[in-house]
Amino acid sequence: MNRRACFAPVLVCVVLTWLMNGALSVNASGRDDVQEAKSSTNRTVWDGVYTEKQAERGNTQYAQACASCHADDLRGKSTAPSLVEESFAFLWDDATVGELFERTQRLMPSDRPNSLPAATYREIVAFILQSNKFPPGEKELDAEVAKLKQILITSKKPEGK
Ligand code: HEC
Repeated sequence: MNRRACFAPVLVCVVLTWLMNGALSVNASGRDDVQEAKSSTNRTVWDGVYTEKQAERGNTQYAQACASCHADDLRGKSTAPSLVEESFAFLWDDATVGELFERTQRLMPSDRPNSLPAATYREIVAFILQSNKFPPGEKELDAEVAKLKQILITSKKPEGK
C-alpha cells in the first residue's frame, strides 16, 4: 500500500509533464506565428515614417497635381473625396501606407493616372500623412513599396505617442 501511494503521484507527474510539454510547444509555436504576422505590420503612421522635408516637397507637388480637384485644404470638392480627417480615416484606416501609395499612383490624378515620378507620389503621400497630423520622423518614406506595406494606417493614437 505504501508503494502504491508513492508511485501514483510520480506517474501522474510524468504524465502531466508529458502533456504540458506537448501543450506548451504547441502554444509556443502558435505564439510565434502571431508574432510573425504582427511584425510584418508592426509599424504604424504614428512612428514617424516620413520627414518634414519630404512632406514640404509633397505640399508643392500636391498644389500642382491634386489641389484642383481635392481643394487646397485637402477637404475635397464635388466627387473628389476629402483626404483628411474622418473621411480619410473612413477610407484608409486599417490599410497600409503602401496601399495608399499604390492606389494613388494607379488612379491619380484621375485625368492622367500614373503620370508623376514615384518619388513625387511618395512626397504627396508624406504630405497627406502630415495633413492628417501623423508625426514626421528621421527617415523618408521608403522607395520599396513592400516596406510601405508594413506601415499600418490607423487614426487611433497609441498610448504614449
Ligand atoms: C481631375 C480631378 C482629380 C485630380 C487632379 C486628382 N484627383 Fe484624386 N480623386 C478624384 C476623384 C473624382 C476621386 C473619387 C473617384 C475615384 O476614386 O476615382 C478621387 C479619389 C482619390 C483618392 C481615393 C482613391 C480610392 O479610390 O481609394 C485618393 C487617395 C486621391 N484621389 C488622391 C489624389 C492625389 C494624391 C492627387 C494628386 C496626385 C489626386 N488625387 C488628383 C479626382 C481627382
